[in-house]
Amino acid sequence: MDAAPANLAIVAAECFGTSLRDDVLAGLAARPKTLPAKWFYDASGSELFEAICATPEYYVTRTELAILDRHLDAIAAALPPAAVLIEPGSGAGTKTRRLIEACRPSAYVAIDISRSMLEAGAAATARLFPALRVLAIHADYTRLEALPGEALPAGASRVLYFPGSTIGNFTPEDTRAFLERVARWIGPAGSVLIGVDTRKDPAVLEAAYDDRAGVTARFNLNLLARLNAELGASFDLSRFRHRARYDAQLGRVEMHLESLVDQQVDVAGVRHAFCRGETIHTENSYKYVPEAFRALAAEGGYDCRSTWTDEQQAFAIYHLVPAAGLAAAAGRAR
Ligand code: AVJ
Repeated sequence: MDAAPANLAIVAAECFGTSLRDDVLAGLAARPKTLPAKWFYDASGSELFEAICATPEYYVTRTELAILDRHLDAIAAALPPAAVLIEPGSGAGTKTRRLIEACRPSAYVAIDISRSMLEAGAAATARLFPALRVLAIHADYTRLEALPGEALPAGASRVLYFPGSTIGNFTPEDTRAFLERVARWIGPAGSVLIGVDTRKDPAVLEAAYDDRAGVTARFNLNLLARLNAELGASFDLSRFRHRARYDAQLGRVEMHLESLVDQQVDVAGVRHAFCRGETIHTENSYKYVPEAFRALAAEGGYDCRSTWTDEQQAFAIYHLVPAAGLAAAAGRAR
């Protein structure tokens, strides 16, 4: 293992409000049974997600990268120079490198719930850009109230980068609440660059979440393997199957794990009964028509400066600025 690069600092924030165990026991006690999608990403889950991105059906990642590449100059021009680039859920951080090259931030702040992914990703970015200050915050960003301000460079504009349609895992209400909290992280001079999937043909959406090679099925079932490994659960993976379906009314793809038989499973010392056909709801991926996403961002306190998209409008990247920031700037100009 190489020594940590000199331009990298690692901070642990005290904000792990709920543990895997608490979340799982609460989720399995709920009706319908549910498990939070954020727990997919252990080491195998993160690898399987990277493999999903390479399947022919999962257009999300490659479409976003194509949009980013095609509009990189305009995107870089829209962002302030020498910004502090903040990425919640940074993971491997591969998408971010093109953006860093193009927009030359002064600092990069990676936040991730997986300590191993966070450290590996942040260290790789720090090595690639020796002049960039890299700060890795080990935290569950959905629970993080404030950024550790003392660790961030003062004065620079903050840009929150939230690619990959990760926001789709939140309900619209939680999306609005998250954007409101982010407004406090970035301040009135900050902005948000966010990638969001769009609504489209249900067959295309369902195939993207149920690829023929079965990678997404393995990703979904890996959650049960994780519970076996980390909570001493007794799930037999061959007695569950992966399901993905698009709810056009709600505009979301739902992933479920369906019990193939009547069975009982022990999880962290608690016995849970499953009927044949009963499911555990493991993920929502909300999709938005661009006008609807901009309206939701407006409810969260933002104006949309730009929308970049591909020819089919299969995905969109939005640049959002706090409406209060605009108002303050207008006030100063008056
Ligand atoms: C990483 C949350 C954006 O919802 O599309 C991929 C995760 N789930 N295939 C998504 C995922 C199934 C992905 N996000």
